[in-house]
Formats: sequence, C-alpha cells, structure tokens
Amino acid sequence: MKAAEKRLPRVYVTRRIPPDGIKILQQSGICEIEQWDSDDPVPREELLKKVAGAKGLYCLLTEKIDEEVLRAAGPSLKVVSTMSVGYDHLSLDDLKKRGIRVGYTPDVLTEAVAELTVALLLATSRRLIEAADEAKNGGWGTWKPLWMCGNGLTQSTVGIIGLGRIGEAIAKRLKPFGVKQFLYTDIGPRPEVAARISAEFVSMEELAKQSDFITVCCALTPETQGICNKKLFSKMKNTAVFINTSRGAVVNQEDLYQALSNGQISAAGLDVTVPEPLPLDHPLFKLKNCVILPHIASATVETRNAMAALAANNLLAGLQGEAMPKEVPL
Ligand code: DGY
Repeated sequence: MKAAEKRLPRVYVTRRIPPDGIKILQQSGICEIEQWDSDDPVPREELLKKVAGAKGLYCLLTEKIDEEVLRAAGPSLKVVSTMSVGYDHLSLDDLKKRGIRVGYTPDVLTEAVAELTVALLLATSRRLIEAADEAKNGGWGTWKPLWMCGNGLTQSTVGIIGLGRIGEAIAKRLKPFGVKQFLYTDIGPRPEVAARISAEFVSMEELAKQSDFITVCCALTPETQGICNKKLFSKMKNTAVFINTSRGAVVNQEDLYQALSNGQISAAGLDVTVPEPLPLDHPLFKLKNCVILPHIASATVETRNAMAALAANNLLAGLQGEAMPKEVPL
C-alpha cells in the first residue's frame, strides 16, 4: 500500500521523440514515463488503452486528441503537450471543459519553416525537381532559350496569407532576392509585424490579383479551412506560384488540381496535404508543375530537438501546476 502511494504520476509519450526531449523527461524524476517505442504513430486502440490513468500526455500532430481520448484518459489527465506549433489535432473545447492545460511549440521552429518555405518556393518557381529529372532521364538536349524557364523573384510581389512569426521570417528571407512588394491578408491588420517587413494589408481578392507568389502561413482553424479554393485561384495571375507550408486542409486540393492542370496558375509547392501521406495515385502527383514534400518544414535536427525539449518542459511545468514555457490559452 505504501509503495503504491509513492508512485509518481504517469505520463504517456505517443512516439519515440528526439533525444533532448526524452532526456528532460527522464531526468526530471517527477514522472513515470510510458512510451510508444516506435517511429510510427501509436495505433488508436493502443493510445486509448495507454492513456487511461495518465496525468500527462505528450503527443505529436498525428494523434487526434478528442473527447474519446479524454474519456479514455479519465479525470487523472491534467496536461497535454504537443510537439508541434499547430494544434488543430487537439479538440480545445473538450480540453477546456475538462480543465486540461495544453502546451505547444511555437518560435523554436520559425526559422526552419521559413527556410524550407523559401527552398520550396525556389524549387517550384525555378522548376528544380522537374529540371533535375530531365537531366537524369535523357530530357536534356541542346541548350534552348525557353526550356525550363520559370518565374524569378526580382521585382515581384509576394502575398502572405496569415502574417505571424513564420510569415515575417519568410518575408525577411525573401527580401534580399529583390522582392518589390509584400502584401498580406489576415483576420485583421497586424501593423507591428507588417511595419517590420513593410507589408501592406489587403483583401484576399486583392492579394490574389496582385501577387506573383502566394505563401500560406496561417493556422488551420474552422475559419481558414478550405480558404484557398477556386475563388482564390481564379483571381490569381496565370504566372503565379502558390506555396503552402501550413496545413493541407487550408487548401481545397480539387480546386488546386484544376487550377494547375488548366493553366489558371503556374505552379504549386506543397509541404502539407490531405491526407498525409498523400496516396501515391493522387492526381496532384501526376502534375509536373506541382512539387510535393512530405511535411518536412521543421525538419532540421536542431529544430526537432528544440521542439521535443520545449514540449517536455511544457509537460513538466503542467504536471507541477507551474506556468508553462509555451501554453495554449484556452
Ligand atoms: C508543426 O509543428 O505544427 C509543424 O507542422 C511540424 O513541424
């Protein structure tokens, strides 16, 4: 009986995580850790079983934390910490109702995501994947004046959908390429951020009409679900390039496919899709003017370790009833 009283609160970690994160949890000495010891997501049934009685849940963006999981966890669950900046996989209303605190990982991935967005934009606009394939597969004939021509950033207008930390970091990186003008749209003007990058607040329609490049940086919410759709694509220039490194569901993929295949827009670069992974027979994979990456925007070793560490520190703070380094206000 005495031994049972001394047991530390249990936390369930839904995946193998980068070393900096697991070390922090292990060395804390304040919790008992149980972990899904795999690089693949925990099966739903296993998650429902293992979360029962846990005080803390450390999860990734692949786990849907909804009423069913919270019911399975029971009243012991006090904190959910996700190793991601996005938290559209968490049912915030249900978490709030149960008084469960939520940690997430903003800031530490801003630079890596901005860097990858620029890389994807350049790979898409300058047709790097298509050109490298041609070189490898015998399509490289003589030098031809207009072969493999794309669109340059010099003197261009870049439109940012959702101007937050990541949008700002992307603009700062793109500026030295000679971008003439930054436009942005959001739920309202963000004068402080906008002033730092000299960006002008415009309507979604104006952004579509004027931009040579559009980059999506907003969070996925009920309001942003599917906002990049036929209406947006039909107003874009047919030379324009569309980039998304936020969440796949912000885009209506059927509408994007139509816009890309009928020449409504020039090209698209996607780091995120619905579903993930995108099935191999998906029509978007058939298009030469669509570059698809497997959700790697934050994938640098340092960044993933920093995310893992921040999520661990959020979890530990939540377990002890202290202020979390980064908490989602509910
Ligand atoms: C996040 O953290 O939400 C990104 O999509 C993955 O790094």
